[in-house]
Amino acid sequence: MKLLLLGAGGFIGVNLTERLIKDGKHNVVAVDIDDEKIDYLVETKSPKLEYHNLNISSDEAEIDGLVAAADVVVDLVAFANPALYVEDPVGVFDLNFTQNMKVVKQCLKHKKRLVQFSTCEVYGITPAKAAEQFGLSSDTHITPFSEDESPLIMGPVKNHRWIYACAKQLLERILDAHWKRDGFQFSVIRPFNFIGPRIDFLPSEAGGGSPRVFSHFMDALLYGKKPIKLVDGGEVYRAYTYIDDAVDCIVRIIEDNNSNCEGQIFNIGQPENELKIKELAVRMCELFDEHFRAEGDPPRPEIITVSGEEFYGKGYEDCDRRIADITKAKTLLGWQPEYDIDQVIFKTMEHFVNSHREKQKKESGEVF
Ligand code: NAD
Ligand code: UGA
Repeated sequence: MKLLLLGAGGFIGVNLTERLIKDGKHNVVAVDIDDEKIDYLVETKSPKLEYHNLNISSDEAEIDGLVAAADVVVDLVAFANPALYVEDPVGVFDLNFTQNMKVVKQCLKHKKRLVQFSTCEVYGITPAKAAEQFGLSSDTHITPFSEDESPLIMGPVKNHRWIYACAKQLLERILDAHWKRDGFQFSVIRPFNFIGPRIDFLPSEAGGGSPRVFSHFMDALLYGKKPIKLVDGGEVYRAYTYIDDAVDCIVRIIEDNNSNCEGQIFNIGQPENELKIKELAVRMCELFDEHFRAEGDPPRPEIITVSGEEFYGKGYEDCDRRIADITKAKTLLGWQPEYDIDQVIFKTMEHFVNSHREKQKKESGEVF
């Protein structure tokens, strides 16, 4: 098949592209506005990879041509960083909904199947937390989020964090509406906190910025310029999925060998890898000391608490807990995640540390 991957230069995109090239079964047409992460794949000059530096917002004619020539379109383009949801909610809605809708329309026009990346954030907060906020008893049983049954519960409009989830939810609803009306072929993927190599930049190397949590904590471990900051005490839960497990599931959805993915929404997550953010911080410090600490590294960083408003600005609200029900992916795709939480942290950390050591060597003139 000829696969068009939009946003192929991002974290999930490069890991997916790498796997597809390795498999060698399909031709990948990769599109992104940022070449930095995907360069290492472009440099391999694989005959299975064609890369275009294009913008889905402004290069409509070129994207339209690529959609027309593709067998399947995979749309990964989005702003996917919570700091931005609060800082630039209009920009987040514009890219994650309005610009993505152009791709939907192109797929409809050319009758192409679309695999659309959404998010586990569409589930919002848990019913237990909502009950608590309504002043009701919060002893509601916590059940995993199920694609076709769970309600989607967002916070108030003034809490702009939810614009990301709303934009993604609206996109999902439009896809399903077109499926119902026009027989539009689509599948939606809701990732639950994937981590792994190339996830995000380190602020100390990028001169600032606010990546996702793992990179913040790695930055504190490797550079020691700032403490590890736990937003509101790090009391919320996340369940981390290793990128290789995730990519394995994504490939099954794209290939759809059993022809049962059409019109389906899939959670991709590892519900057994759940921990509190404050536990993630401690586990990262322990694994770093045990396996990676080298002479000259800064001492173990202090762990402090900051408020959500202080860290992200006004309008931040957190998802308290999100556990994926992955029955559908297991049943329809025969997929099963393999990496446990320590392996997920270790392997992601290993990649960060190796890149950092390489950088240190280059800077000290040891390698050229
Ligand atoms: P990412 O930010 O690393 O990748 C997004 C890519 O889109 C970037 O390379 C960016 O340069 C590109 N892009 C942005 N604007 C563009 C434009 N106008 N034209 C072309 N390319 C553009 O994010 P990611 O973690 O790889 O996430 C990929 C998708 O999965 C997103 O839709 C995100 O919302 C969703 N998602 C990811 C996670 C996760 O665990 N990483 C979780 C939930 C949802
Ligand atoms: C992310 C992003 O919204 C998307 O990438 C995606 O939709 C989703 O998760 C996902 O990966 O499934 P979130 O998990 O809240 O959302 O993003 P992080 O920035 O990684 O934050 C995780 C938790 O750590 C939050 O509670 C946050 O407040 C906290 N945090 C973050 C800290 O305690 N310290 C930090 O330095 C950074």
